Amino acid sequence: MIHIENLSFKYKNGRKPALDNISLTIHEGDFLGIIGGSGAGKTTLSYAINGVIPHHFPGDFYGSVKVENTDTFDTTPGSLSLKIGSVLQDIDSQMVSFVVEDEILYGLENFSIPGDEIEERLLSALEAVGILPLRYRTIDSLSGGQKQKVAIAAIIALRPKVLILDEPTSELDPKSSEQIFELLKRLNEKYGITIVVIEQKIMLLSEYVEKLAVMNKGRIIFSGNVRDVLGHSSELEEIGIHCPRVVSLSNSLRDRGADVGGVWINLDEAEAGIRRMIYD
Ligand SMILES: Nc1ncnc2c1ncn2[C@@H]1O[C@H](COP(=O)(O)OP(=O)(O)OP(=O)(O)O)[C@@H](O)[C@H]1O
Ligand SMILES: [Mg+2]
Repeated sequence: MIHIENLSFKYKNGRKPALDNISLTIHEGDFLGIIGGSGAGKTTLSYAINGVIPHHFPGDFYGSVKVENTDTFDTTPGSLSLKIGSVLQDIDSQMVSFVVEDEILYGLENFSIPGDEIEERLLSALEAVGILPLRYRTIDSLSGGQKQKVAIAAIIALRPKVLILDEPTSELDPKSSEQIFELLKRLNEKYGITIVVIEQKIMLLSEYVEKLAVMNKGRIIFSGNVRDVLGHSSELEEIGIHCPRVVSLSNSLRDRGADVGGVWINLDEAEAGIRRMIYD
């Protein structure tokens, strides 16, 4: 569904390329996490997917990004946004309304959704995100987690195939962060929306996503099934990504020759793995 091939991009006033020869394929129905340190190029990569690059930021662009076989070069971010919904890193800059329902209506009206579909889309977006009771609340009375859900509902109302979220939990406490990931999982499983989430919290990623891409200095250094990527915990450590301790434990046992039966990503798996090693 999204094919990125040998993509490099240098912002016009940038010293080094922000993206350096990236190739990545995102399939329909994927739940993909993107992780990497500050300045690694994560936001720039999301801009390349939603067409903000090259259309809004000038710079040197090499390679290609195709969304359902259409080259992003030959289309506009506006027409792409019906396929690819983006929740920005700074959601406050994205929100334009005073009341929750207006935030969702704004997008629907902006994209000229027919009037007789609007109420149904508004309700189903609020419902899908689990914020129906917040419909008439003012946005500034909401918690950070609730605001994040409103931003997601406003995008979901446009019924995109892909949802890209840039660090949606960075301002949230652990419980609200978990709720956002539960929501993303539901949108992925129940509604079939392809999810691409940029996230610094490796614990959340390892529990929820199926696939993981790791970025460092404009490059993707690992990508694939989340367990395969977490198998490289010592290399991840070198670039400041601290894997959950059960992950590092199973990798170091594996490196010492133990048959751990695949990377453990939570305590239950660690317990089962250790029992197997002791009793089998
Ligand atoms: N508008 C811009 N003009 C010039 N350089 C930019 C611009 N935006 C980002 N950069 C540079 O591009 C590189 C990648 O930045 P990007 O914002 O994509 O990283 P990131 O992984 O999203 O970081 P963070 O975790 O801090 O959000 C950095 O070196 C950054 O300084
Ligand atoms: Mg960023």
